Amino acid sequence: MMGNNIIEINHLSFRYRHSEELALKNVNLHVPYGQWVAVTGHNGSGKSTLARFLNALLIPDAEGAVIIGGLNTKTEGCRQEIRRKAAMVFQNPDNQMVAPTVEDDVAFGLENAGVPYEEMVIRVQESIDKLGLTGLEKREPHRLSGGQKQRAAIAGAVAMKPELLILDEATSMLDPSGRAEVIDQVQKLRDSENMTILTITHDLNEAALADRIVVMREGEIIGDGTPAQIFRQEDLLKEASLKKPFIIELIASLREKEVDIPEEVTTEEELVNHLCRLKQTM
Ligand SMILES: Nc1ncnc2c1ncn2[C@@H]1O[C@H](COP(=O)(O)OP(=O)(O)OP(=O)(O)O)[C@@H](O)[C@H]1O
Ligand SMILES: [Mg+2]
Repeated sequence: MMGNNIIEINHLSFRYRHSEELALKNVNLHVPYGQWVAVTGHNGSGKSTLARFLNALLIPDAEGAVIIGGLNTKTEGCRQEIRRKAAMVFQNPDNQMVAPTVEDDVAFGLENAGVPYEEMVIRVQESIDKLGLTGLEKREPHRLSGGQKQRAAIAGAVAMKPELLILDEATSMLDPSGRAEVIDQVQKLRDSENMTILTITHDLNEAALADRIVVMREGEIIGDGTPAQIFRQEDLLKEASLKKPFIIELIASLREKEVDIPEEVTTEEELVNHLCRLKQTM
C-alpha cells in the first residue's frame, strides 16, 4: 500500500554520464515507515548511487520513479521538501562539521532554514541530548572523538526533523567503540522517534541489527529479507562476496553441537537472552 511506505522505488535504472555500465539496474524497493534497512554489497555495487536518488540529488529518467513520503522526486517543486524529509550523513567524520562548536554545528541547518531563534535553541538542545552529547555543547569539533563527531553530524540532521535518516558508511572510519556508539544511538532513534533508517554498510555485524537487509551487486538488488533470511542463503553471500557475521558463525557451530536455537536469533543480545532462557529450563 502506497501510503504506508516512506520509500517507493520503481524500475529505477541509471547510467552515469560517460560510463559504459549501468550503476543501477531495475531497482525496486519499498520501505514502510519506521523500518531500519541495511543496504550492503561490495565496492561499486551501487549503494551510494541509490542513496543519492533518495534525497533527489539524482533524478530518474525514463520510466523509473522514486517517491519519498508520497512526493515524486521528478516534481521539481517537491525536491526541497524531499531533501528536508530525507537527511543524509556521510563517511568521513572530519568533513561533516562546519562550525566552531558542537551546538553551532547542530544549529547550522536550522539557521539556514530560517527557524526562529527560540525554537532553534530548543531543537538544538533536544538533538544534542538525543544523540548522547549532553555536556559537549561548547566543545570544538577537533577535540571530539570520531564517534562523537558522527553523532554530532547525526544530531544536526535530526534537528531538521527528518522522516528518513540515511547513513552512507557513517561508521566505516570509526574504531569499534565509535561504531558501537553511533549504532546504539541509531537504534534509539528508530525505537523512540520511530524514524525510518537506511544504513549503508560493508559490515554485516552492523547489518544484522537492522530489521531488513538489502544486498546489492553490480547495480542490482540480489537479496532482500530479514537478517535471518539473508544469512541462511550461503550462495547469495558468496555471490555478493560478503562475510557472515561472527555471531552467525557462532550460532551455526552451537547448532552443530545440538544446542536448540530458533531461526530468528541473529544478534549477540538475542543469543544471550535465548541461552539464559535455555539454562533456566535445564
Ligand atoms: N560520479 C560518478 N561518475 C561516474 N561513475 C560513477 C560515479 N559515482 C559512482 N560511479 C560508478 O557507479 C557504480 C556504483 O558506484 P557507487 O558509488 O554507487 O557504489 P557503492 O556501492 O557505493 O561503492 P562503495 O562501497 O565503494 O562506496 C560504480 O561502478 C562507480 O564506479
Ligand atoms: Mg558508496
